[in-house]
Amino acid sequence: MTVLDTRVRPFAAREPRTRHYVMCAPDHFAVEYSINPWMNPDVPVDTTLARQQWDDLRATYQRLGHRVDVIDPAPGQPDMVFAANGGLVVGDRAYGARFTYPERAAEAGVFATWLRTQGLIVTDPSHTNEGEGDFLALGSMILAGTGFRTSIAAHIEAAAALDRPVVSLELVDPRFYHLDTALAVLDDGNGDAASNVAYYPGAFSPHSRRALRDLFPEAIIATEADAAVLGLNAVSDGQHVVLPSQAHQLAEQLDQRGYLPVPIDLSEFLKSGGSVKCCTMERHR
Ligand code: ARG
Repeated sequence: MTVLDTRVRPFAAREPRTRHYVMCAPDHFAVEYSINPWMNPDVPVDTTLARQQWDDLRATYQRLGHRVDVIDPAPGQPDMVFAANGGLVVGDRAYGARFTYPERAAEAGVFATWLRTQGLIVTDPSHTNEGEGDFLALGSMILAGTGFRTSIAAHIEAAAALDRPVVSLELVDPRFYHLDTALAVLDDGNGDAASNVAYYPGAFSPHSRRALRDLFPEAIIATEADAAVLGLNAVSDGQHVVLPSQAHQLAEQLDQRGYLPVPIDLSEFLKSGGSVKCCTMERHR
């Protein structure tokens, strides 16, 4: 490739990489309590539709060539479908979850036990953290959210457990209570392309916005309207970005930057404050 070629191109060609995901079927999914502003137990969940939407998400990953393992849901744990919260897996190590609210506390042990059956070395946390809800792994570092759920002490503990530096980011808007509701990793930097993200600046404190500007000069800046349908709760393989179908402008921005948006409707899970990423734990390299 000549120097001229790279100059006229607005972005490098996006390369997908095969991923390994973990999901949990929505057998017991419901909105029975309220631990975030999205959850209203008076609004009924269509459980048949939820099952179809979840099946569709799993089938989408498989169609894109990714591996999806499924963990058995535990009765009495209606939020366990949000598998991202069950821990953070990097290589052969995992940092277990310790949930903020008693309603979800029992999930932690179920996830940790399952991760051990997969041959992973699991660190049981002494500090509150909700797995990949607040920890987003890049090849070179882990982005870690705090403010509503995960504690700063857990950021430090995760860095030691996984032997990877952590950058703490402060969340300030209760609608975006987990980092994965405010920021999506588009490229983890493990291939040829630089790491890149999309995020909604209004979800972060001013100093965290500055950190994000410095770390990701090429980031896609999402609108409030797209963030407010959890458009950033997306999963990327470096090229395909599976995202909530209601996030129209974000899909357009991704397309303009050479990504392939794959919209999917997860309306029933939005009633619990979750979408694509929340339903997906990734086993990172
Ligand atoms: N109802 C769940 C909770 O509030 C939703 C979790 C969403 N998960 C996520 N990774 N953002 O805990």
